[in-house]
Amino acid sequence: MPCRRGNVLRTFRSRQSPFVSRNIYVLALESSADDTCAAVVSSNRKILSNVVAHQFQDQEKWGGIHPMISTECHQKRMPGTVRMALEESGMDMDSIDGIAFTRGPGMVSCLNVGANAAKTLAAALNKPIVGVHHMQAHALTPFLTSENPPQFPFLALLASGGHTMLLLATSPVSFKMLANTADVSIGNAFDRVSRELKIPWGEASGSARIGAGPMLEKIAAKHPTSNPYSFPELPLAMQGSLGFSFGGLVSSVQRLITKLGPAATEDSATQAAIAHAFQHAAVGQLQEKLMLALRSCERRGIAVKTVVASGGVASNMYLRSCVESTMKTLGIAVQYPPISLCTDNAAMIAWASMDRFLRGDVDPYDITVKPKWDLGELHAPPE
Ligand code: KG4
Ligand code: ZN
Repeated sequence: MPCRRGNVLRTFRSRQSPFVSRNIYVLALESSADDTCAAVVSSNRKILSNVVAHQFQDQEKWGGIHPMISTECHQKRMPGTVRMALEESGMDMDSIDGIAFTRGPGMVSCLNVGANAAKTLAAALNKPIVGVHHMQAHALTPFLTSENPPQFPFLALLASGGHTMLLLATSPVSFKMLANTADVSIGNAFDRVSRELKIPWGEASGSARIGAGPMLEKIAAKHPTSNPYSFPELPLAMQGSLGFSFGGLVSSVQRLITKLGPAATEDSATQAAIAHAFQHAAVGQLQEKLMLALRSCERRGIAVKTVVASGGVASNMYLRSCVESTMKTLGIAVQYPPISLCTDNAAMIAWASMDRFLRGDVDPYDITVKPKWDLGELHAPPE
């Protein structure tokens, strides 16, 4: 089918003439992993709605994200989630100026649910679309939520279920990778250790559940920080080099659990001590790499004043206090999105698309998803 990008773009540009200054409203869809999300956000930083349908109940028996279950859940829930986001925002599609969706990275079948919904809706209603990089959206969330947004250049520490990255951000579309994980992500490590320790998923308000990572944090908090462990400290991986690795840490925890026997999972004090030791080693690795990255920037004459920590694991309060205290000694500010916007959500996708909608730099309707997408490959705005 021929793409009518030209027409759509013209319509949008004329609506967005610099002489007619008004806010624009974006409906965004996110489905890259296990949360089905839709949100309406305006160009003056108002989140009019932000709906997240979790899949905890559906995924719990698998102990992780199962792509087929996740895809099916997205397929079932995306229409209702979009409907709810519109209702909560008090808007209808006539007042929506553009539709954004997560283009990647993520699980292909999951990404396609949000992408196809967004593209079809946009084509039927003659609205422009923008496909967004999920990790760029995590990194830019403080520009939506903070009264005092970070100044470029800043370091972005993105810690989620799929990624652990330290990036130098020099503009909203320019990210240089300073450290990446050699194996699994920190979120995946939290989830696996939580499972190994047989920590049950928790109850939240209503029928909501608390997943493996946040539950490990809860259990670890029961270990008094002043108490020594009855076992050797877990090692910090890849010391002195700018790269992450969490696979070895997970294996060390597995060996420790085997050595300690049933007490590791059945004695609550031992379980809490192991959870704490793991969290301490995982977060310690983040702290060390942050220091290394800051030193490397300093050597290259790059004046970094802020660290932005985002992604699901950045909602961990132990991580926040450790990173903050390390950065305080160096006079570096740390910014996080509010907890509800650290984990996956569509408000961040809407915000990351906003500049492109405002510039009229929109995507064609035949755009495809990018399950693997290097953050260094974001396209620069046209001159
Ligand atoms: O960013 P996110 O919501 O989804 C991805 O893009 O992957 O991150 C989800 C990950 C999961 O591994 C989850 O267990 C972890 O973030 N997570 C946490 C916490 N909250 C979420 N890990 C440790 N402590 C938390 N409080
Ligand atoms: Zn994420």
